[in-house]
Amino acid sequence: MRLDVVTIFPEYLEPLNVSLVGKARARGQLDVRVHDLRTWTHDRHHTVDDTPYGGGPGMVMKPEPWGEALDEILASGAPDQDEPVLVVPTPSGRPFTQALAVELAAAPWLVFTPARYEGIDRRVVEEYGSRLDVREVSIGDYVLAGGEAPVLVMVEAVARLLPGVLGNAESHRDDSFAPGSMAGLLEGPVYTKPPQWRGREIPEVLVSGHHGRIARWRRDQALARTSTHRPDLIEACDPVGLDAHDRAT
Ligand code: ADE
Repeated sequence: MRLDVVTIFPEYLEPLNVSLVGKARARGQLDVRVHDLRTWTHDRHHTVDDTPYGGGPGMVMKPEPWGEALDEILASGAPDQDEPVLVVPTPSGRPFTQALAVELAAAPWLVFTPARYEGIDRRVVEEYGSRLDVREVSIGDYVLAGGEAPVLVMVEAVARLLPGVLGNAESHRDDSFAPGSMAGLLEGPVYTKPPQWRGREIPEVLVSGHHGRIARWRRDQALARTSTHRPDLIEACDPVGLDAHDRAT
């Protein structure tokens, strides 16, 4: 998968050299290219923003540098390369969910345009929306100073879904929000050695060797945690997916 990020803070994307994403890059599974938007400015001050039409606080990112940057990046695709999906982080976008991560992980090429200030001149999304699949995406109901942290979040969520990126291919099967046996439920607690720590024991059932009882216990824990932390998810659960035992929990 190819990923391009256009930003005025290329150094903000340095975590993409570390850990899971860094290793995927080193193995050649991810081709990540971070670009400085100011490369596509032509004035002495490398200006990327200007005052908003209609007045109001803050500054708006000018369309010209984005247009030049995106045209050049789009033209750099290999002849057999499909068009990229353009991902525009914005607090006014559609929510980023595990389902969207799965969808983006199926794309061969993603281009991210993290903005600063009050956002990018609207005509940029209109222009590229007429030729590409453009997704305006919010990572949550809060406002950050820019879209770079959301890009780190989205790239990590997508990269760990790519074949061969996670060490154990099974390990995202039971993730909270993943489709599967625990669909729609949050993950319950996990334990490892030692069996006693500061006088605290691990739950007996986990060393019972009884797979059925362990699965039942895990599901009950997931249900309990979901009803405490995210009652909205229980409401949204398909009742067909809840068995009689679940309802009694
Ligand atoms: N830029 C600023 N806040 C954001 C958010 N919550 N999601 C995506 N991009 C953003």
